[in-house]
Amino acid sequence: MNTIESETEEQVFSMPRIGDKAPEFKAVTTQGEINFPSDYKGEWAILFSHPADFTPVCTSEFMTFAHLESKFKKANCNLIGLSIDGIYSHIAWLRTIKDKIKFKGMKNIEVKFPLIEDISMQVAKKYGMIQPGESITQAVRAVFFIDPNGIVRAIIYYPLSLGRNFDEIYRALIAMQTSDKFNVATPADWNPGDDVIISPAGSCGVAEERMAGTDDLECEDWFFCTKKLDKDLVLKEVLKS
Ligand code: BEZ
Repeated sequence: MNTIESETEEQVFSMPRIGDKAPEFKAVTTQGEINFPSDYKGEWAILFSHPADFTPVCTSEFMTFAHLESKFKKANCNLIGLSIDGIYSHIAWLRTIKDKIKFKGMKNIEVKFPLIEDISMQVAKKYGMIQPGESITQAVRAVFFIDPNGIVRAIIYYPLSLGRNFDEIYRALIAMQTSDKFNVATPADWNPGDDVIISPAGSCGVAEERMAGTDDLECEDWFFCTKKLDKDLVLKEVLKS
């Protein structure tokens, strides 16, 4: 492989990992220019890609995200979309969605969050949104969760044919915010109001104490302890009033 090929391959396959600083970029969007992630400092951001404008699965996703935008905003989270299309295509598509498309009871849906034009694939390549086995011309359905410090906290990828589950995207956001706020982990299928997980005992002494029993913990074994965390307290701490 010569140098140009390997450089191209490196670019195509580069992707941030959980715990990395979110790669920086400046982009034109349907809401004006953005500088990412600096414009969102102090707030969460969900940066997501879709394969193309004027396609049905993407349309259903955009309508759903737009419908839920205020719910994400309440959780201090901004939505930013991206596809390898130009700004005029984006504008025409969003106008069509608002004027013509109905989906699951939603209609006249206005997409108010920014949609990045990425004809050059500059951003898509930085974020590993082009996955050549799936498509070399369209981004896969990637979802990057970026925290208020600009750190990548979670990544979900879906193939072209599969529309995303927005309950899960919201659940993951609230779960990460809960972990940050209360220094706990969240078990399988956790939702606010469910018990949370305490980090495993790091010493024999702590393991002993936990098995002896404490007021607020419930331990199945020394490494598996949960505690109650009130749903209202979680929602009060993570949602803006
Ligand atoms: C869609 O959004 O409908 C779609 C896009 C690319 C490939 C398959 C489906």
